[in-house]
Amino acid sequence: MGVVAITRRLPDSAAARLRAAGHQVRQHDDHVAPEHAEILRLVHNCDGLICLLSDRVDAELLDAAGPRLRIVANYAVGLDNVDLAACRSRGVAVANTPGVLDEATADQAWALLLAVARRVLEGHRLVASGAWTGWSPLQLLGTSLHGRRIGLVGLGRIGSATARRARGFGMEVVYHARSRREREERELPARWLPLDELLASSDVVSLHCPLTHETRHLIDADALASMKSSAILVNTARGEVVDEAALVEALSEGRLAGAGLDVFEREPRIHPRLPALANVVLAPHLGSATVATRDAMAELVATAVVEVLADRRPDGLPLDPPKR
Ligand code: GLV
Ligand code: GLV
Repeated sequence: MGVVAITRRLPDSAAARLRAAGHQVRQHDDHVAPEHAEILRLVHNCDGLICLLSDRVDAELLDAAGPRLRIVANYAVGLDNVDLAACRSRGVAVANTPGVLDEATADQAWALLLAVARRVLEGHRLVASGAWTGWSPLQLLGTSLHGRRIGLVGLGRIGSATARRARGFGMEVVYHARSRREREERELPARWLPLDELLASSDVVSLHCPLTHETRHLIDADALASMKSSAILVNTARGEVVDEAALVEALSEGRLAGAGLDVFEREPRIHPRLPALANVVLAPHLGSATVATRDAMAELVATAVVEVLADRRPDGLPLDPPKR
């Protein structure tokens, strides 16, 4: 059977599933990322690779793995860290984890939005500091969401799950995506707007698009300038979709009311002025971080590797296992 490299500690079920199928597991069994050189050693001569969104799967890594490699299974739904063309040209299949993290990630978008809108961290710090002097009519007033407009950039599975929650909060839902989503427009309901109109008219803008050449810095200084100064930006997608320096400027100058950020442009580094801003809530890329979701993701990546190494074709691979 094959050798499967895993670049980080995952729920145990992933390695167990691979071993049960007869594979040898070579794992960097730690919570902290290995050095780049260690990853290159780890993948050498492996048949399957389970990697993270923080691993760059490029020609160098694929060459270090060598010609036995048949599948890269990314422990994430986003595939922006994987050079799909380089995989395709080497006949390597690519899998990811769609469908199992939509609700968890939508919950995280709402956790950040509510925390910013209702100033949860400022309130926590006030109470915990012992400086709270009691209920006061003008203390820590936040932003009402009911009856306001939320603009979703991207209306895939996570965007739709976020929209369903917005209906529960009594918000009007508009969205922008390259192509119209007619079924979602009817069922949610949601209304498509050009991006400039969405940005100019939404009280909350939440990002749910993949990172591509088109979406890198989609929310740049101009986009931020077009938003309402009372608006809140939420990003649970990819940090590079937002120009982080421009966002810090807009927040510092009061041109944007607040931001809830789960992702950053240069993770794990963040813009040095972000922590000092009162109107932001920062989370360490936790969109899919529930026990059940991470278990389901482990099951998906392990199954994809087992299936491809057994010459079967699992449903829904973003890159088909090519014939060998
Ligand atoms: C997390 O960001 C993912 O892409 O799964
Ligand atoms: C963008 O997210 C799109 O779906 O086109």
